[in-house]
Amino acid sequence: MSVSFQSSAEEDVGVAVAVREATVGDYDQVLSIARVYDGRDYLPSKYKHLVTSANCKGYVGVVDKSIVAFLIACIVDDGTTLVTRAGRVRSDYRGKGVYGQMKQLVRKQIALQGRVEHETFTTSDINYGKNNTKFKKIFTERFSKTVGSYKFQISDVCQLHLDSSPGLQLLDHVAFENLFSSPATCKYLFPHNKIVVDWVPLKLLSTNISYILSSTSLALASLSSDCLWNDVIYSLLTIGSYYMCSSCIAYQLDVFGSDVTYLRHHLMAHVQNIVRLTANENCGTVWLEIYTNGDVDRSLIRSVLCEFCRPQSINTTTIMHVLEKPLKPSNVKTFTTCKDCEGTHKLQTSCNNTML
Ligand SMILES: CC(C)(COP(=O)(O)OP(=O)(O)OC[C@H]1O[C@@H](n2cnc3c(N)ncnc32)[C@H](O)[C@@H]1OP(=O)(O)O)[C@@H](O)C(=O)NCCC(=O)NCCS
Repeated sequence: MSVSFQSSAEEDVGVAVAVREATVGDYDQVLSIARVYDGRDYLPSKYKHLVTSANCKGYVGVVDKSIVAFLIACIVDDGTTLVTRAGRVRSDYRGKGVYGQMKQLVRKQIALQGRVEHETFTTSDINYGKNNTKFKKIFTERFSKTVGSYKFQISDVCQLHLDSSPGLQLLDHVAFENLFSSPATCKYLFPHNKIVVDWVPLKLLSTNISYILSSTSLALASLSSDCLWNDVIYSLLTIGSYYMCSSCIAYQLDVFGSDVTYLRHHLMAHVQNIVRLTANENCGTVWLEIYTNGDVDRSLIRSVLCEFCRPQSINTTTIMHVLEKPLKPSNVKTFTTCKDCEGTHKLQTSCNNTML
C-alpha cells in the first residue's frame, strides 16, 4: 500500500518536500539523484532488494514533481530499532533541510507502528565532519570503527602458502546462535554490545542473524590456542560482504576482536573468496574496505595484504561513526498537511481525508 505525506508549511524549512514510498520503478530517478561514495555506490546493485525487503522501505522526497531525495528505512532488533541508510539529496537541494524533513516524516510514519524505540545510523567521517553540530545535538555517538581502504587488481593476487592451519570455522545460523549465547565471547568481540555489518548496526539478537548472514556474505571465526580465553569461543570473527559496481567489486570486511594471531588466514580466505566471486564477472578491480576496532594495527593488515595482492591504500574514509537516539512519540514532530487533499488531517496510510 502506498503512503505519501508532506511537511507542513508552518515548519521552519527551506524547501517543503513531499515524501512517498519508493517503488522498483523509481530506480532510474533515484539513481540519478547523486553520484556518491566515489562511484562505489551500493544502491544500483541493492536497490530492488532493499525497497522490496520485508524489513526495509525506500522513501523518495519529491519537490515540484521531481524526485530530489531518497532514503532507506530498515526496522531491525525485533522491530525496535529504525536504521536509516543510503541517504542522498540532489546537489542543488542540499543544505535546505530536505533530508532533515524526510527523516522527520519517516520517523512519524514509523512511530505509528508503535514498537520502534531507537533510531540509529552509521556515517563516514566526511559526512560526520559536515554535520557534526547537528548530529551532536540530536544523537549520541555509541562508538566508532576504523576503516582501511585498499584497491588492487584481481590479476595481482598470488597464492599464499600458510605454514599453520587455525581451523577457520565457517559460521552459519546455528554457529551465530551459539556465539550470541556466549556472554564472554560477545563481550570480547562486541564490546559495545552491537555488531555492525555492512554499515548496519544490530543488537546481538538471534532475529538479526538473517541480516548478518545474507547470500552475499562470508563469516569466518577462529580461536587462538596459545592464549587463555576464559569461556571465549572465538577470538577473531570476520564477515565479508560484497556488491558489484561498474567493472569492480566492492568487498566490505568487518573484523571483530583484536587477536591478530590468525588475521593473515582470515584475510587470505576473504581474498580467495573475492577471486571466486569474480571468476565469471567482467571485473578486474577490487575495492576492499576493512573495518576494525581501533586497537588493531592497520600497518599489520597492510603488510599482510602486500604479501598477496599488492594493494594501493586509499585515504578516503578513516572512521565509521555509529550514532543513536531514542525514538519516542514525544520526540517526533507532527506534520499534518496532506498534499493529496491540501487539507490538514492525521497522517494516514494514503489520504482518506480524516480531518482533524
Ligand atoms: C547528507 C545529505 C543526505 C544531507 O542532506 P541535506 O538535505 O543537505 O540535509 P539537511 O539540510 O536536511 O541537514 C542535515 C540533516 O541530515 C541529517 N543527516 C546528514 N547525514 C546523515 C546521515 N548519513 N544519516 C542520517 N541523517 C543524516 C542531519 O542529522 C540533519 O538532520 P536534522 O535536520 O534532523 O538534524 C546530503 O548532503 C547528501 O546527499 N550528501 C551526499 C550523499 C551522502 O554523503 N550521504 C550520506 C552518506 S553517510
